[in-house]
Amino acid sequence: MFINHLSLTGFRNYSRLEQDLAQGITVLHGNNAQGKTNLLESIYYLATTRSPYAESDQQLINWNTNIPDEPIVVARLVATVQSQVKESTGSLPEPKTIELRLIRELKNGSTTFRREAVINRHKVRLMDLLGQLRVVLFLPSDLELITGSPTARRRYLDITLCQADPVYLRNLSSFNKVLDQRNAALKTLSETGRGKDVVNILSERLAEFAAELFARRAKFMLHLAQEAGRIHYEDLTGGTETIKLGYLPRLTSTKVGRGANDNSEELLKSADWLVEHMDDINQIARKYSEILQLSLDKDILSGVTQSGPHRDDWRFWVNGRHLAHFGSRGQQRTAMLALKIAEIRQLTVTTGDPPILLLDEVASELDEHRRELLLAQISNSGQAILTTTDLSIFSDSFLNDCNKLHVSNGLVSETAKTPSQDEPISEHA
Ligand SMILES: Nc1ncnc2c1ncn2[C@@H]1O[C@H](COP(=O)(O)OP(=O)(O)O)[C@@H](O)[C@H]1O
Ligand SMILES: [Mg+2]
Repeated sequence: MFINHLSLTGFRNYSRLEQDLAQGITVLHGNNAQGKTNLLESIYYLATTRSPYAESDQQLINWNTNIPDEPIVVARLVATVQSQVKESTGSLPEPKTIELRLIRELKNGSTTFRREAVINRHKVRLMDLLGQLRVVLFLPSDLELITGSPTARRRYLDITLCQADPVYLRNLSSFNKVLDQRNAALKTLSETGRGKDVVNILSERLAEFAAELFARRAKFMLHLAQEAGRIHYEDLTGGTETIKLGYLPRLTSTKVGRGANDNSEELLKSADWLVEHMDDINQIARKYSEILQLSLDKDILSGVTQSGPHRDDWRFWVNGRHLAHFGSRGQQRTAMLALKIAEIRQLTVTTGDPPILLLDEVASELDEHRRELLLAQISNSGQAILTTTDLSIFSDSFLNDCNKLHVSNGLVSETAKTPSQDEPISEHA
């Protein structure tokens, strides 16, 4: 798929942008702090309704318009998206217009903030945007996925799966609602001793949704792991290193520790069980129900549900060792690259349409061999948008084949034919 046109109003440092985008590769170049990352962020935000950078969505509104006593402030992001999957008639579908609005309103002295989603001029639920515009994002900070917290790894998995699989998205949303209800019921039960039947009913409902999440994560990760392992071994390390990517479902009542005491053996056992049963939703639901039953006393004591997909994790092993603890930065970077390329292929296979690739300053982080490999990969894609402060890291033949846009202070302009002469000397971050 690809974006034909992007329109931003009052988003970050873009007070107004109307930008046609071409298929193939577009390089956004310019000095630091001009709006290159903001432009990628706007596309990622439209695709996922999440920002990879902002702590709160209100930060995304252009601060020149976001004045405290202004009665209403709106940021608007609109993309026209062309799918490349032909309809049964053999022709391409009409492009879709997808839109997100961030609205801050001042009423009776207090401010409210809300978001609205619109597809082809019809208001929809926010979650209906997911899957309309599929993206894979590459960031220098992707490495933190390997070394950071399980929460970040789960979010990555959820965002990828929600884009690919509408059933997953629905189940995730229902699971989260019922999980909140069950946790509230657990608290009531521990405080008042009442409501055990409510907890039991909610446990059964939770198990239904959880089973779908476990099964779909297991299947997706299995394919992702195979592909990532192959890319890593064949393309990235010339057959010298093997990585294993493993899903660690919290489908066990055993307590899971941290660091060296993380009980990964126990989690791997539940992973094996899950792979064996991943086509039998009822059995997974039954197993999870039993676990909820076994850990009920602990759950009541702590007032939270201890086991389940909301506590899942995944990890890499390189040559048999936990990559986060024993891998070098270079090995971690290579594994991440394998994962992202596998993700592109996996999204393409499951949806029939290559996702849009967004690469923020990543090319400069890689050595020549890995950069070439990544660029070759993105050249096969429907649309890729990458940012750089330094065009000279790319070869002339690469630059000749791509569209170049210069970004300066929230304005985007076509780059003249000989960019290397026009480009001011770049300041490195
Ligand atoms: N809400 C906002 N309103 C206006 N400007 C913003 C907002 N958030 C960030 N900026 C500005 O955007 C610029 C950073 O843009 P960014 O896209 O990160 O730059 P780069 O070109 O280096 O990738 C900074 O000058 C920053 O001050
Ligand atoms: Mg940037």
